[in-house]
Amino acid sequence: MTAETLHPGVVGDVELSLNGKHVKLPVYKGTESECGIDISQLHSKTSYVTLDPGLGNTGSCTSAITHIDGDQGILRHRGIPIEVLAEKSSFLETSHLLIYGKLPTRDELDSFAREISQHYGLPKRAKAIFDGFEEDAHPMAIMASKVVALSTYYPDCLQVDVKNSRLHIVRLIAKFITIAAHIYRKSKQKAFIDADPALGYVENFMRMMFADEAGKYVADPVIVRALDMIFTLHADHGQNCSTSTVRMTGSSQANIYAAIAAGICALWGPWHGGANQAVIEMLETIQQDGGDVRKFIQHVKDRKSGVRLMGFGHRIYKNFDPRAQILKKACDDVLGKLGVHDPCLDLAKKLEKVALEDEYFIERKLYPNVDFYSGIILRALGIPVNSFTVIFAIGRLPGWIAHWKEMLETPGLKIYRPRQIYVGPTLSRYIPIKDRT
Ligand code: ACO
Repeated sequence: MTAETLHPGVVGDVELSLNGKHVKLPVYKGTESECGIDISQLHSKTSYVTLDPGLGNTGSCTSAITHIDGDQGILRHRGIPIEVLAEKSSFLETSHLLIYGKLPTRDELDSFAREISQHYGLPKRAKAIFDGFEEDAHPMAIMASKVVALSTYYPDCLQVDVKNSRLHIVRLIAKFITIAAHIYRKSKQKAFIDADPALGYVENFMRMMFADEAGKYVADPVIVRALDMIFTLHADHGQNCSTSTVRMTGSSQANIYAAIAAGICALWGPWHGGANQAVIEMLETIQQDGGDVRKFIQHVKDRKSGVRLMGFGHRIYKNFDPRAQILKKACDDVLGKLGVHDPCLDLAKKLEKVALEDEYFIERKLYPNVDFYSGIILRALGIPVNSFTVIFAIGRLPGWIAHWKEMLETPGLKIYRPRQIYVGPTLSRYIPIKDRT
């Protein structure tokens, strides 16, 4: 690494001419050579704003958490490639890396895991909230409601104090899996199972989900490892829709539970984390329709259909999504070890092949994303389809927390408040109701 890459910052400026005015805008360079024009003074100097619907060309912050190079298919957390983390690290270790900026020592990891293990339980009255929902309520709606409700039990969170946020952070990581498991058991009208602090994070989650009424559950190491890896692969992804939502909500000094609940809501949509559920539903529909993938691809290409190939496409990756590659391989491994044959896996592979050879997808650089294969593994692990996005949320939680924390620790924080270009009516006369037609 050169001295320059170790010290990101302003490396020059660009001059902009607007209506005869010349303004110099600083150019900022990151450690991976990404450059951005700092336009924060543009409006005050020229009265112009930038217009970037979808924010595809806008850097909303600097961040030292995750580097993505969408052309090369690179994803690194704090410099460490996702492939290495998926193979060698655990979800809690990766969570520590994201949130606290470094791989933990053995002692740090043990105490992080121990602290989490002390906070699995939910306040008694928080359990009662589950009764307010219908059995078939979508798990993401319950998840968001339960997480924001946690703020009412820990009201010190209302005074946002990032330096003293550790307890809220471990509470969230612990209670997320309890809430997710309780949602599932409630939908099955089964009694809740409390966590066993002696078990690891993923074993506890599986046990709280699937144990019998007496709390008996024998964890299959294949399942535990696969789920741990899936959580790890989802742990962070830069300024995506839900993470930006967490930052935006947190920038108003809303408490951490409110900011994370906002992230859950943003994740829910099928163009974001909800895609994992949508992929399985799409594969099942194709299967019921006779399994003709070419016919389905034609349907997608018919722009009038409004149908997208779910699990394909990404705002940043224009080559391949490294997480999708890991998951595709893991699908074969995990299903093989579990002795599961899922016809949806064969169908997904056929669909991928046909799409990748099709001009429509080639031109638009559309490749499988993290959601294309994850659902097939989750289903083989026994996770119900409508809980897939909850699994994504559990995985993404450390990333959301890391960004919330980084934002609040960055000097000079401003509330997120984009501008707009108004295109509505100009000054108009108010017409009394009796005269309106
Ligand atoms: N199927 C068919 N066409 C697609 C798809 C798709 N999955 N994705 C993009 N396109 C087309 C668009 O229609 C558009 O075509 P046009 O230029 O002819 O109008 C072009 O490709 C560019 O698409 P955009 O919508 O501009 O791309 P953007 O970066 O805004 O969207 C997104 C990214 C939302 C992920 C999109 O690719 C999509 O909807 N994919 C399917 C849903 C999905 O899998 N989401 C999960 C993403 S990963 C994650 O969030 C965890």
